[in-house]
Amino acid sequence: MKVPLLDLKQQLSYLREDIIKAVTRVIDSTTYIQGPEVASLEQEVAAYCGVENGIGVSSGTDALLVSLMALGIGPGDQVLTTPYSFFATMGVVLRLGATPVFVDIDPVSFNIDPAAMAEVLARDSERKIKAILPVHLYGQCADMVAIMKLANQYGLPVIEDAAQAIGAECPMSDEGGEMNGQWKKAGSMGLAGCFSFFPSKNLGGIGDGGMVVTRDGVFADKIRILLNHGASPKYYHGQVGGNFRLDPIQAAVLRIKLTYLEQWHRARRENAGRYNALFAESGLVQNNFLVLPQAVHLAKKQTKTLDNSAAMNGVGENYHIYNQYVLRVSRRDALINWLRSQDIGCEVYYPLALHQQKCLGASFPVLSLPQAEKAAAETIALPIYPELTADMQAYVVEKVAEFYR
Ligand SMILES: Cc1ncc(COP(=O)(O)O)c(C=O)c1O
Repeated sequence: MKVPLLDLKQQLSYLREDIIKAVTRVIDSTTYIQGPEVASLEQEVAAYCGVENGIGVSSGTDALLVSLMALGIGPGDQVLTTPYSFFATMGVVLRLGATPVFVDIDPVSFNIDPAAMAEVLARDSERKIKAILPVHLYGQCADMVAIMKLANQYGLPVIEDAAQAIGAECPMSDEGGEMNGQWKKAGSMGLAGCFSFFPSKNLGGIGDGGMVVTRDGVFADKIRILLNHGASPKYYHGQVGGNFRLDPIQAAVLRIKLTYLEQWHRARRENAGRYNALFAESGLVQNNFLVLPQAVHLAKKQTKTLDNSAAMNGVGENYHIYNQYVLRVSRRDALINWLRSQDIGCEVYYPLALHQQKCLGASFPVLSLPQAEKAAAETIALPIYPELTADMQAYVVEKVAEFYR
């Protein structure tokens, strides 16, 4: 049996006609820059996230870049972020001439550790840190209650890198606390949230795309100006921006896919539950060959549990949308070779922590961030896409078990 890491052909088989119609509509309209498709997607994604403003942009990377530009981040500034993410999270900070300040991750969620953040912020006596950039890795929100508390304490803006997490939720009240049984969507808790529509994301286009969402109308206006070369009005440039616009063909396709998004999240969550049960049965967890992913943030609300066991424990969890299903495994690299030899797709997100990247150069301080480094050495992502069948999952688990036998 062949089990690819992601199979967009399956999705295309039931979306094809609608996609072709949508693309044809854009072509026939001759509105090839911005226009009604982009405006409608912006409204629909903003409404989905429960915020007032959505601004379509050219990619998740540009969503982050333009958000930091709108904050005026530049040389001499520092941005507090996680060392365990896709390169873009750090790349945008460096491109603006600012410096990333890394704090280690929580080993269970793989997201930035608020306790470590608190220590770094307390030491920043010169107030060089100008923004906080948490990442909701793999589709699970970082501990936003704690992060927003720190942000408010230090008066810092939070830009959420929600590239992998559109639709993920965590328990948070309107006042920023945990209680009240309220839930907030990824991207809606900080000053702004940044999404990627890279094809492998839960909401993926047929090319590059992204969006910034924000409650703050003034911030939204700044971004709208920056993504058109800083022009306001047209041809009058009070500042230097860029061309960060979302393509209307992508917007038209994404509008179709948005109507499937909740259904796809549910399918991914069911697949995660099935893997968890199969791996538990296999004995591999008990024998310490692997550690399963966990939706970690506990709260009172019980309706959004991953599986029945959590409900029985009387706790709720983060609403993890499983953009990736990531395990820690022993003998990771040998397992990868074995799985690939068995026609099972898998990937490492990411083999190096950001502070270990060569591009930082010799002048960047040598850091020890053991949790991020350990995660980079131990993690593996298995196929989790919505159309994955139960038989395929059983095959994956059987082959993993065979490797450790
Ligand atoms: C955490 C994270 N940040 C940023 C990005 C950048 O998004 P894009 O590839 O759309 O530029 C990605 C996407 O791959 C990502 O996973």
